[in-house]
Amino acid sequence: MTRWLVTGAGGMLGRDLVSVLSAAGEAVTPAGRGDLDVTDAPAVKAAVAGHDVVVNAAAWTDVDGAETDEAAATAVNGTGTRHVAAACADAGARLLHVSTDYVFPGDAADPYLEDAPTDPVNGYGRSKLAGEEAVRALLPDTGYVVRTAWLYGEHGRNFVTTVLLLAATRDTVDVVDDQRGQPTWSRALAAQLVLLGRAALAGAAPAGAYHGTAGGETTWYGLARAVFADAGLDPARVRPTTSDRFVRPARRPAFSVLGHGRWTAAGLAPLPDWRTMLTSARPHTWI
Ligand SMILES: NC(=O)c1ccc[n+]([C@@H]2O[C@H](COP(=O)([O-])OP(=O)(O)OC[C@H]3O[C@@H](n4cnc5c(N)ncnc54)[C@H](OP(=O)(O)O)[C@@H]3O)[C@@H](O)[C@H]2O)c1
Repeated sequence: MTRWLVTGAGGMLGRDLVSVLSAAGEAVTPAGRGDLDVTDAPAVKAAVAGHDVVVNAAAWTDVDGAETDEAAATAVNGTGTRHVAAACADAGARLLHVSTDYVFPGDAADPYLEDAPTDPVNGYGRSKLAGEEAVRALLPDTGYVVRTAWLYGEHGRNFVTTVLLLAATRDTVDVVDDQRGQPTWSRALAAQLVLLGRAALAGAAPAGAYHGTAGGETTWYGLARAVFADAGLDPARVRPTTSDRFVRPARRPAFSVLGHGRWTAAGLAPLPDWRTMLTSARPHTWI
C-alpha cells in the first residue's frame, strides 16, 4: 500500500488533498502546521520516514507580507522546502512540491511553458523559486514541481468566496480586468496531484516541472462575472476596473497563463478548462 504524507494539511489545498486521498482509499498522514513545522529539519525527517509520496502543500502564502518579511517567507518556502526534499531523498520518497506562477515575470503574451525562464517580480515569488531550486537540486529524478495559480476552494479565503460574500452585501462589485490567469479549483488540483503521484511511483512520469492550472484564461473580472452567473446572479453587477485602483505592497504579474504540454509525458490529461471547472465546483454552495 502506498503511504502518502501531506504537509500543510490544514490549508485550502491541503484539506482537499487529504479528502481526495481518503476518498480514494489511500493511506494518508495529514500533517498540519501544528503537527509539522517544515522549518524544523529533524521533525521533517522524522515525519517523512516511512512514506512513499510526500505532497508539500505547506507554504507561506501571504504575498503582501512577504514584501516586508521576505526572510520569513523564504524560511518556509525556500529552506522549509529544502528540508522536505532532503528528507524525501533520505527516505526514498517521491516529492510533489506545489509552487506558483509567481516564479515567472508575468510580462509574456503567450503561455509560460514548463521550462520557460523564471524571474519573479516579488518576494513571495523569489521565496517559492528558492523552494523549486532545492527540489531540483536534491531530487533530480524523484522531485516534481507542480506550479499552480489563482486557486479557489471550499476551505479557505479566496477570490471566489470573497466575490460571493460581496454579492450578498453590495449592489455592484468592481474587479480588475487587466490581469490574466487560469482560475483553478483546489480539489481538481488535488485529484491531479494524486494521479501524478501514482504515475511517479509507477515510473511513468518524468521528474521536473508541471503546470497544475486550469485550461483557457480569463481576468479576475471575467472570473467574477462567471461566479455571479453560476450563482444565478446578474453578471452586469460586476464592473471592470484596473490594477492601479488597488495598489498593494507586492507587485502582481499581469500575465499568469501557463502551458500544460508536459502532462502528456506523464500519460496524463491536463486539467479541464477553467469555465467548466468553475461550474463543476459549485462554489455558491460553499457559502
Ligand atoms: N492560493 C493560491 O492562489 C495559490 C497560487 C499559487 C500557488 N499556490 C501554492 O499552493 C500551495 C497551497 O496553497 P493554499 O492556497 O492551500 O495556501 P494556504 O491555505 O495558506 O495553506 C498553506 C498551509 O501551510 C501552512 N504553513 C505555513 N507555514 C508553515 C510551516 N512553517 N510549516 C508547516 N506548515 C506551514 C499554513 O498554516 P497556517 O494557516 O497555520 O499558517 C497553511 O495551512 C502553496 O504552496 C502555495 O504557494 C497557491
